[in-house]
Parts: sequence; structure tokens; C-alpha cells
Amino acid sequence: MHRRSVTTAFIALLSTFALAAPVVAFGAESFGDPIAGLTNDEQARFAAGREVFSENETVADGIGPVFNDDSCVACHVAPAAGGGSTRVETRFGRRARGSFDALASLGGSLIQEQGIGQQGDCNFVAEAVPATANVEGGRRTTPIFGLGLVDAVEDKTLLDLAAKQRARTPATAGRARYVADAVSGGQRIGRFGWKAQVPSLLHFSGDAYLNEMGITTPFFPNENCPQGDCSLLRCDPVPDPEDDGADVFLFADFMSFLAPPPRADGASRRAVRAGERVFERVGCADCHVPTLKTGFHESAALRNREFQPYSDFLLHDMGTLGDGIAQDGAAGREMRTAPLWGLRALTTFLHDGRATTVEAAILAHDGQGAVARDRFRALGADDRRSLLRFLRSL
Ligand code: HEC
Ligand code: HEC
Repeated sequence: MHRRSVTTAFIALLSTFALAAPVVAFGAESFGDPIAGLTNDEQARFAAGREVFSENETVADGIGPVFNDDSCVACHVAPAAGGGSTRVETRFGRRARGSFDALASLGGSLIQEQGIGQQGDCNFVAEAVPATANVEGGRRTTPIFGLGLVDAVEDKTLLDLAAKQRARTPATAGRARYVADAVSGGQRIGRFGWKAQVPSLLHFSGDAYLNEMGITTPFFPNENCPQGDCSLLRCDPVPDPEDDGADVFLFADFMSFLAPPPRADGASRRAVRAGERVFERVGCADCHVPTLKTGFHESAALRNREFQPYSDFLLHDMGTLGDGIAQDGAAGREMRTAPLWGLRALTTFLHDGRATTVEAAILAHDGQGAVARDRFRALGADDRRSLLRFLRSL
């Protein structure tokens, strides 16, 4: 499955232009670069992983029978391969008498937007939100830059952070919870995805290969039943697993070694620091925690490193901002603190992309974010300008 298509070459060309844009970084890294300090072997793994991440899969490769797109980079593209995009996926379910049903028997909770068409006596078409659903939520494609560092954070660090928040800032304290890791077979604190529903980049790789592209692996061996109808799988043209698992490791190599977003150098450092002080004073930093530290990692580039994601990667009750979807132990109103690094590369904000400005994103905070939101609203013009200047430097 390691072919290079015309589309891939075109996207590579596009990202070359994106990289050539005048982004001035404090360090040498640009969006989409590998993290500094990799060995030659790790650089080669990064490059091989990026190739597979950008590759267009076909029906013969095992795509479908229902799927969202035919490559990772189709969605993870802005402003370089491994980024995010304005693309929003749909999740649905049904809430009745306080409990949430993901309606798995009707293809929930994730919609697959495309089908591979006529195969034998089956016609595979796009899934639709069923009439019985009464909850529907959008999920914007998040950027992957720097997530190798997040993967290298130990469970204990996240558990300690949650405990510290409960003691010092109980009104905004976040929650960590264990989820199953399909690749390692163990349990780990969830940290990836809008609901912190995924524990590792390896798990996410296999999960996305199945749920976004319809390609099965030994870790995720069962196809999605189109709109919940498992009898249709008799017409799936490629026997499972469609990939032997090698691609899962390649995706994870690329993502693990992808550098964090470089800081912009547009505003003077002193002005940026003044804005960051407002950010702290207003309480944003209680959840959007500036600095985390990794633990042990096989790669020295990721081992015992401090980094600045501006997130605690914990779940918070966001009140009306929550997407209503209960997932892997996260309640409908709970969302993971969105990391703010790389914020300046985004054009739509929040889990469903509803906000087109940073101010609108802040004003939509509710639940545990309501106090910070109200303090932001009450800021004088100078402080507000200063805070936004800081956010644009991320
Ligand atoms: C059709 C669009 C689409 C495709 C194709 C796609 N993704 Fe994603 N990706 C998303 C969306 C949407 C999210 C947010 C999902 C959520 O949390 O519900 C996401 C989230 C992620 C995250 C988590 C990032 C974070 O912020 O924690 C990783 C890692 C990821 N994708 C990897 C992949 C890989 C690897 C592939 C290819 C095998 C892939 N994705 C294919 C849309 C896509
Ligand atoms: C109680 C924790 C909490 C506090 C306090 C908080 N946030 Fe957030 N923030 C979140 C969560 C959770 C999200 C993701 C919400 C969603 O999209 O559903 C988020 C999202 C954002 C986003 C959108 C990012 C994106 O990728 O779309 C911005 C910008 C943001 N916050 C800025 C701020 C600022 C500025 C403050 C202070 C005024 C603040 N936040 C206070 C938890 C918090």
C-alpha cells in the first residue's frame, strides 16, 4: 500500500507553499517539520510515516465499505501535513431519561460520509443520522503537531495535575480517567480526541484507519456495519484484516516525531508576556495549563522534555458548550481542554467549528469555563487587546 498518487504529490506541493509562508519561529522548526534532535533512523521513520499518512487508499486496499475519506492527510492538512482542517464530522445518539445511547445498532455514534458503491448484491452508500437520534454533534479535525510529546506524558503526571486542581482550583478542576488501549492491551489515561477518549497515538492510528477509512488491522479487526446493518459485510470485497498492522506503526511514527507548532514572532516578546499575565489572572491557565513534562520515552527527543501545549488534556464540564455525546466514560457535557499551541493557524474554533473568531470561542465557554468567560467579558480594552495578542502568538 505504499504508492504515491497524483493527489499526494499535489498535497505535498501545497504544503511546500504552506511551509514557505512567512512564519517566523523562535526555534528552527516550522509547521509540519520533524521535532529537533531525532536520530537518522528516527528521521527515516518520520519520513516513511508521512508517506503512508499522505497516501490515497483504494477499494482494492480495503477502504470502506463505509468511510469518511481515503487518506489521513485529506483531513489533517492545514497548514501542513499533520495539521487539522475546518472539516467537521458528525456524531449522533439518543438521550432518554438521563442516559445516552450511541445507537450502535443504527451505525452510531460516528457517521461515515461515503460508501464504496455497488459490490455484488450490496450497494454501499453514505450513512445518515437516523430519525430516532435526538443528539447530534460536530467534531472538527484537530491538528496533530507535537502530540508525540503528549503521548510521552506519564499517567501519573495527568493524575497529579487533576489532584492539584481539585485542591487549588476546585471550581474549574479537570478529570482524568482510564480508557482501554487496543494496541498495548492495557489501560491508560485518555488524552487524545475532543473527549480525551483515546489513550495513545498507536491506538488512534488503528482507530482512525478503521473509523475514518474503513481499513481493518489486527488491533481493530471488525468493519463498521453500514448504518448498523452487519449483514451487508458479506459483500465487503477485501478479507480482514485489510492491513497487517504495519501502517498503524508508520502513522504513529510520523505523528510521534511531528514537531510542536512553532511560536510566532509577530508581537514583541514583552507585549506577549503582558498578555499571558492577563491569561493567567483571568483563570484561563487553570485549564489551558502552559507547561507539561514528558516522562521516559524510547526516543531521546521526547524524553523528560518540558513543552508548552496550553492544555491539561483533562475533561471539564463545559455546560452548554458540551457536545451532548457520551463517549468512553466522558459525559455529554465534558470536553477535553483544547490545546492552544498553534492557535494562530486555525480559522474555525471549538469542537464543532462554530466560532470563526477567538473572541467568539472564549465567549462560548460555559459550565466550569463560565467564570473565566465572564472575567474576559469584563476586561478593559487594553487588557483584552493584550490577551488576544498573546493568543495570536501561539
Ligand atoms: C475524514 C476526516 C479525517 C480523516 C480521514 C482522518 N482524521 Fe484524524 N481526526 C479527524 C477528526 C474530526 C478528529 C477529532 C476526532 C474526535 O475527537 O472526535 C481527528 C483526530 C485525530 C487525532 C487526535 C488529535 C488530538 O487532538 O488529540 C489523531 C491522532 C488523528 N486524528 C489521526 C489520524 C490518522 C492517523 C488518520 C489516518 C489513518 C486520520 N486521523 C484520518 C478527522 C479525520
Ligand atoms: C474550565 C476549563 C477552561 C477554562 C477556565 C478556559 N477554557 Fe478555553 N477551553 C476549554 C475547553 C474544554 C475547550 C474545548 C471546548 C469545546 O470546543 O467544546 C476550550 C476551548 C478554547 C478555545 C478554542 C480552541 C480551539 O482549538 O478551538 C480557545 C481559544 C480558548 N479555549 C481560550 C480560552 C481563554 C482565553 C480562556 C480564559 C478567558 C479559557 N479558554 C478558559 C476549557 C477551558
